[in-house]
Amino acid sequence: MMGSVRTIDAKERGMGAYSEAYRRSLAEPDAFWLAAAEKISWSKAPEKALDDTNPPFFRWFPDAELNTAYNALDRHVEAGRGGQAALIWDSPVTGRQRTYTYEELRDEVAKFAGALSSLGVTKGDRVIVYLPMVPEAAAAMLACARIGAVHSVVFGGFAPKELAARIEDAKPKVILAASCGIEPTRVVEYKPIIEDALALTEHQPDHVVVLQREQAPAELTARDLDWAELASGATPADPVPVAATDPLYILYTSGTTGKPKGVVRDTGGHAVALAYSMDAVYDVHAGDIWWTASDVGWVVGHSYIVYAPLLVGATTVLYEGKPVGTPDAGAFWRVIAEHGVQALFTAPTALRAIKKLDPDALELQKYDLKAFKTLFMAGERLDPETYHWAHDKLGTPVIDHWWQTETGWPIAANLRGVEPMAVKPGSATVPVPGWDVRILDQAGAELPAGREGAITVKLPLPPGSLPTLWGDDERYREAYLSRYDGHYLTGDSGYLDEDGYLFVMGRTDDVINVAGHRLSTGSMEAVLASHPAVAECAVIGVADQLKGQLPRGFVVLKAGADIGEEQLRDELVAMVRRDIGPVAAFRDVSIVDALPKTRSGKILRKTMRAIADGRDEAVPSTIEDPSVLEAIRKALR
Ligand code: COA
Ligand code: AMP
Repeated sequence: MMGSVRTIDAKERGMGAYSEAYRRSLAEPDAFWLAAAEKISWSKAPEKALDDTNPPFFRWFPDAELNTAYNALDRHVEAGRGGQAALIWDSPVTGRQRTYTYEELRDEVAKFAGALSSLGVTKGDRVIVYLPMVPEAAAAMLACARIGAVHSVVFGGFAPKELAARIEDAKPKVILAASCGIEPTRVVEYKPIIEDALALTEHQPDHVVVLQREQAPAELTARDLDWAELASGATPADPVPVAATDPLYILYTSGTTGKPKGVVRDTGGHAVALAYSMDAVYDVHAGDIWWTASDVGWVVGHSYIVYAPLLVGATTVLYEGKPVGTPDAGAFWRVIAEHGVQALFTAPTALRAIKKLDPDALELQKYDLKAFKTLFMAGERLDPETYHWAHDKLGTPVIDHWWQTETGWPIAANLRGVEPMAVKPGSATVPVPGWDVRILDQAGAELPAGREGAITVKLPLPPGSLPTLWGDDERYREAYLSRYDGHYLTGDSGYLDEDGYLFVMGRTDDVINVAGHRLSTGSMEAVLASHPAVAECAVIGVADQLKGQLPRGFVVLKAGADIGEEQLRDELVAMVRRDIGPVAAFRDVSIVDALPKTRSGKILRKTMRAIADGRDEAVPSTIEDPSVLEAIRKALR
């Protein structure tokens, strides 16, 4: 029976500010979210928050209209903040920095929005943004938002095939790209990747607009346009009001199959939720200096490099570099000190990379971090060792919080702006107002405190989370809503303790998290299976000290296949890099005689994961041929 075990009981916990906000968000969602909506400027203000007329497709602010770019830029200029820094670009890989005031960024965005309009891009058209961490990436996203076009940003570490899958699904009118991205070891030319992708797609955009970078200018062909030329001749465009329920962007993320899922973000709910989160979760406000060290290609970059800090009038730092080696293990501390950053949001893997190079944090002593107040961590589990290291070295609160591409903003956090709570290392703290988090067993019954199960969110999801998948309501329903009636399946497993703290333990599906990058083992298996010598295969995530997880492949050869282990490994590694991209970090694969299977022939990936994690108690004793498991164990040693 559902509903008998409440996640957070306000009476039990005492009526603290958090308990009261949490209770109200679930008991009176209309009043709660209409109050939060007052932080946003609407061209048509909402009179209603939740539209529950078509479950399980819930919508927010169905009668309202707004423009997100206006909210992120113009209104701050109109309120007299035009001279304040909106965006600081800090690029150690190019040795450049540039600060844009709100007025400058508004003008830049208005101009580029005009440029897009001149190419015939209008409300509802899709635009692929394929840019590294340069200010033009944020400007491109905001320019789309300004004219009601729907952007879809693609991360630079993906291969042409992945880019092609996104182009085919989103059908962009225009692609906005840079000539190159800069990795510490090489310059990555984007133009050949785009050409290779477009050779694979039926859909062809009208134009590719190329931002030329001096590190590797691209040769432009007939459909290509030069970014600077196009922008310089453009007439600035005014913000176009759109319905709150209109899509702002599509962001593709790894699902359990090879086909990425196009997470749709609507306009109004997104603006309201992000503004709420800056106040309630992060305690960051107008004039504060905020840095999210991620990439605009991920949801963390969308929400917390670009939209949220600008929506509240803060200054956002956009950093083009790595945590280490640019130039040293003090790169992050330098940025914090130099720009007076008050709060940093990054992935635990970045901290592990710094810790590995500089375990005593000697570099930290070179910088004055007096403005720095809080370190926020998400993207993967924050292991207690990394937590303690960061906390000891920085001496500030280190706040783990948990969310996903689909949800767009935190599901569980320690709410710094509502009621800061004691940190329990290993826990993302408590469900954020709006998120009715439940822990369910296989049969759908709620589990008591301390028992691990599937983490779900009882519908409706709050504003800002995905209303559906792009062009695929059925997949949305099937992937997220079909496992437990009336609940959104997060794909993570975990438990709540007696204090209502949530511990997220890991994914229950084929999604893995490599250096904070979300990847699908299913899509890697599809690549391995396409090798002519491979009869069957499995890919699982195994623990890694630096990257959290790494993919690990196992293949069974076809009878008579004549190929050495080393050659096969090299070919498979090269294929994954070619088809998915370097970001997959796929390097390890073993040949085994057989894979463990159920009687019906299904590969027991869960059992393989349990072996890799050393959880012997989770390995079933009923496997017919134990030598199959022994071979997996041996390969993993
Ligand atoms: N464009 C092109 N290639 C990219 C890329 C990009 N934007 N990002 C990564 N790659 C490449 C890397 O160059 C590397 O290639 P290689 O195999 O030729 O060396 C490969 O993809 C793997 O990259 P990565 O996993 O990032 O490893 P790394 O050794 O370069 O860096 C970390 C390790 C931990 C420093 C880095 O992953 C990091 O900063 N992670 C934080 C991630 C993050 O912010 N996540 C968002 C959630 S908050
Ligand atoms: P992404 O969609 O790329 O943000 O990845 C989401 C997934 O990353 C989640 O489903 C979790 O598996 C994992 N994740 C993100 N943040 C955390 C966290 N704080 N603790 C544990 N896992 C996390």
